[in-house]
Amino acid sequence: MSERRKSIHGSWSGRLAFILAATGSAVGLGNIWKFPYIAGENGGGAFVLVYLACIAVIGIPIMMAEVLLGRRGRQSPINTMRTLAQEAGAHRLWTWLGAAGVLAGFLILSYYSVIAGWAMAYVFRSAAGTFSGATAEGIASIFEQLTGDPERLLAWHTLFMVMTMIVVGRGVRGGLEKAVRFLVPALFVLLIMLDGYALAGGAFDQGLRFLFTPDFSKITANGVLIAMGHAFFTLSLGMGAIMVYGSYLPERTSIAKTCITIGFLDTLVAMLAGMAIFPIVFVNGLEPGAGPGLIFQTLPIAFGHMPGGVVFGTLFFLLLVFAAWTSAISLIEPAVAWLVENKGVSRVYAAVYAGIATWGFGLLTILSFNNWSDFKPLSFISIFKDYTVFDLLDYLTANIMLPLGGLLIAVFSVWIMKRDDSLQELDMGDGPAYRLWYGLVRYVTPVAVLIVFLNVTGLIDFVGLFGLAEE
Ligand code: PHE
Repeated sequence: MSERRKSIHGSWSGRLAFILAATGSAVGLGNIWKFPYIAGENGGGAFVLVYLACIAVIGIPIMMAEVLLGRRGRQSPINTMRTLAQEAGAHRLWTWLGAAGVLAGFLILSYYSVIAGWAMAYVFRSAAGTFSGATAEGIASIFEQLTGDPERLLAWHTLFMVMTMIVVGRGVRGGLEKAVRFLVPALFVLLIMLDGYALAGGAFDQGLRFLFTPDFSKITANGVLIAMGHAFFTLSLGMGAIMVYGSYLPERTSIAKTCITIGFLDTLVAMLAGMAIFPIVFVNGLEPGAGPGLIFQTLPIAFGHMPGGVVFGTLFFLLLVFAAWTSAISLIEPAVAWLVENKGVSRVYAAVYAGIATWGFGLLTILSFNNWSDFKPLSFISIFKDYTVFDLLDYLTANIMLPLGGLLIAVFSVWIMKRDDSLQELDMGDGPAYRLWYGLVRYVTPVAVLIVFLNVTGLIDFVGLFGLAEE
């Protein structure tokens, strides 16, 4: 196809802007809040190794596939899939892949916003000096007070959703590009400082050992699925966020180099976060498997005892809010772009409609931490016996919807789309690099995702084979 499509939503100013926006999408609560607590719950080293392998072998190639589909289709993921399926002479059902992505983004944002609300609350707690000199128990009770109060959670969740709607309503270049330019570097500096604190505080090597010494007897088959799901979650893959950002990418930008850069930065943030948190966990005799409250119960201890902790703590949680903000925007953008394209509403209204729906659904998550904390809807299934509604939402989206979406994106880009088209879009020649990508996405990715799925559902048993732990 020689005639190139254009996006009606505008475009990034260039390659750097795209890298920053996509890194802004990728780097978020997933890296700093979620990665440490799921690594802690799943035994550490072996989990981290599986996660890193998934980033390299599955994540980055699928990210390239998503960007290339987006840039070729130049529309919301739903319409991009429709157009590209037509172009390839494939079934119209592919349009539903875009729609499933919109649904996943909606479900994820509904809880993501609640957690981002915790981070906002902590900006103020930190600035007020609440953590200064506090003990681990004191910090834990501050956390419980917050999550135990649905009204407070609702207020923060509401504020965060409003912030998200405002930026999305303003469009692609609006404030987003400028915000990420400052934010991503600042986040790195603060994390490195926290690592310095953890290094000086003792137990640094215990933290490193926990994170980087694989012990496969500590990870279950379900743990492998969680590690893989997290690779999708942390890189924002499998639901169209990166696809829609790709649709605003200027022509002639190297997709491969860009995606490798994003994958590297995202992983670096997660590692820096883990290396800051686990030493603090061990020095203070905390539980690595403490769950979603982990960073909110560990980092304040560090801030409460280090010189200048009030300032650094406030800044840290502020940056976490920003990191969540730039991710939230990308979670809702596919829905907004689609509303603009198909329903003829303005961007502002599209942002408001999608935002309100997401906000309402967020109530389920809020209640999961207090009034409904004993409500375990799927307790009759062994792996879900302790899962609240929030846990189930997170599991369904990150471990099922995203890998499945990613799998289908991979299948589409190399089995359905013409090879010449992906060759043209990736624009790196028909050499070893392209062939490596093609091979990974065509064979390795789908097989890996399927094996992990089949294993968890118990249809195939690899547990004995690799010596993984039993449930
Ligand atoms: N990648 C984001 C994070 O790590 C979350 C996200 C998932 C954003 C899917 C967009 C799409 O926090």
